[in-house]
Amino acid sequence: MTDTGHDVKVLGFAGSLRKDSYNRAALRAAQELLPPGMTLEIFDLAPIPLFNEDVEREGFPAAVLEFKERIADADALLISTPEYNYSIPGVLKNAIDWASRPPGKSPLAGKPLAIMGASIGYFGSARAQYHLRQVCVLLNMHPVNSPEVFISGAASKFDETGKLTDGMFRNNIKKLLQALQEWTIRLREA
Ligand SMILES: Cc1cc2nc3c(=O)[nH]c(=O)nc-3n(C[C@H](O)[C@H](O)[C@H](O)COP(=O)(O)O)c2cc1C
Repeated sequence: MTDTGHDVKVLGFAGSLRKDSYNRAALRAAQELLPPGMTLEIFDLAPIPLFNEDVEREGFPAAVLEFKERIADADALLISTPEYNYSIPGVLKNAIDWASRPPGKSPLAGKPLAIMGASIGYFGSARAQYHLRQVCVLLNMHPVNSPEVFISGAASKFDETGKLTDGMFRNNIKKLLQALQEWTIRLREA
């Protein structure tokens, strides 16, 4: 983790494996909207297996080790999540469960975090985001409170190439990234 200066290295991941996922597209939009001094790499959760304590006991799978190392190496995280049945998609929760292990040594602990999300519904993944914020409590992660980014009606907010075309949501993401940068620096200097 960078502990000096004002550069902020962010690792982003989406709670969807879908090729044309709006949430993956939202992360790509974030890469276009970064403030100076901030970088954003996107991690694909697809290779992460289903969590199993028996497997964990034998040793973390390579994909999980890489995920944990990339989290540890990042100054902050950016999660873009869909909402599945009013909650966090299993793919995202599963990845977080792996990264939370072993208890007391999780790279998630103390990590600054920004949460956003897109759904085709009216609430833009808000319910999933609030469940994710609840998970952050136990993991002692530090999410940015404001602004919240709920990309509702996602089907009409991205074009056929996956570009986020909606000006209001682009601006929301830009403000969220600025807030994450300020928050990460404030925590670093505390
Ligand atoms: C199992 C499942 C449950 C869903 N539940 C919700 C929901 O509770 N609220 C909502 O707004 N959209 C829901 N959706 C629709 C998602 O918003 C939509 O599939 C969205 O495109 C998923 O994000 P992605 O584009 O990043 O894959 C659900 C979709 C699936 C597959």
